[in-house]
Amino acid sequence: RIIDVRGRMILDSRGDPTVEAEVVTEGGGVGRAAAPAGASRGRHEAVELRDEGRAWAGRGVERAVNVINSVIAPALIGLDSRKQREIDALLCKLDGTHEKRILGGNSIVAVSLAVAKAAAATAGLPLYRYLGGPGAYVMPVPLLNIINGGAHAGNELSFQEFMIVPVGADSFREAMRIAVEVYKALRRLLIEKYGKMAVNVGDEGGFAPPMRENREALSALVDATKRAGYEPGVDVVYALDVAASQFYNEERGVYIVDGKELDREKMIEYLVSILDEFPVRSVEDPLYEEDFEGFAVFTREASKRGVLVVGDDLYTTNPERLERGIRVGATTAVLVKVNQIGTLTEALEVVNMAHRAGMRAIISHRSGETEDTTIAHLAVGLGTGLIKTGAPARGERTAKYNELLRIEEELGGEAFYPGETVLRPGEP
Ligand code: PGA
Ligand code: ZN
Repeated sequence: RIIDVRGRMILDSRGDPTVEAEVVTEGGGVGRAAAPAGASRGRHEAVELRDEGRAWAGRGVERAVNVINSVIAPALIGLDSRKQREIDALLCKLDGTHEKRILGGNSIVAVSLAVAKAAAATAGLPLYRYLGGPGAYVMPVPLLNIINGGAHAGNELSFQEFMIVPVGADSFREAMRIAVEVYKALRRLLIEKYGKMAVNVGDEGGFAPPMRENREALSALVDATKRAGYEPGVDVVYALDVAASQFYNEERGVYIVDGKELDREKMIEYLVSILDEFPVRSVEDPLYEEDFEGFAVFTREASKRGVLVVGDDLYTTNPERLERGIRVGATTAVLVKVNQIGTLTEALEVVNMAHRAGMRAIISHRSGETEDTTIAHLAVGLGTGLIKTGAPARGERTAKYNELLRIEEELGGEAFYPGETVLRPGEP
């Protein structure tokens, strides 16, 4: 039984306040979780409760902390921490709005995850084991964002994330070694070509070089891979988060890419030409977040080329939006960010729906993060085989990778690293 629920303010990786929750059970289990925060938020995400006024540069979370201490805590004390569905349903009911605007998605997500961690701790299990039982042995293939653009960096790249995916490894640890070697090679290469300013890092630990064209960034990834001694397309493949809503002009219905204006058809042509030029195996949010039909057109092209299409802003981890996406064949994968929807139960529903439909689910961080490592456990516990959590740099990113290294060590010979197979669309 839950005997205590407490909220507090901590800071995230951008220096913004965020909410941390602690849940304590009678059995002595303590669970702690913090809410992350996005910069390129989808328009259908759960609402973040932030204070008004100038304190903390307008980003305070005092109200959200108070919600935990004075509204959520009294409602949860006495409940069985193992009844996640019941507790999450109660949180949704207490809030009463579709977007969780009364209690705040940030208060709710911190509590929901802390409840699961308290239940796991009470059972004496790591979270991944508590969630996944004996089936929790698949290590995730990491998508590492090592060149940052869009809303995450002060450069002119329109695409938000240029990621490396170290598929040619047989363990998570080896995958991280490849990733780090490519990351370091890229650093040297960028210094040679653009000078030292080019290796300042963006919000997710990737470099933010003064590049203008998306192709330039992809070429740099290919060159860095070769320089590190790996074969592009074999040992390392690439993934993009286009985050297209960020450079879509709604009134005129055009995308502004590399200084050119493209309508939907031209945008799809441009993306396909990139797929034909580079070994990119995953493309997230290629189009505007309301354009389900456009997504479906692009997904048909991408699938022919063995490329996953991922919905992030498109779905905002919302089961209703995912259902619509499945109906029209909008994507072959869904990005899962628990704080976009608010509760663990709803995020689990999204993962299960995706898997039943033959789609991939990718567990993801936000650009604003804390040292919280819950998502590492979610990736293993839910067997998604994929995680996206930034570059192998900055403590809030390495916290997740380091937790995965510990989990792989704990699993020992049981651990399985799926490699390239997990990127094939439509294969179970
Ligand atoms: P965000 O970006 O956390 O700033 O929303 C991450 C993403 O778009 O995947
Ligand atoms: Zn995204």
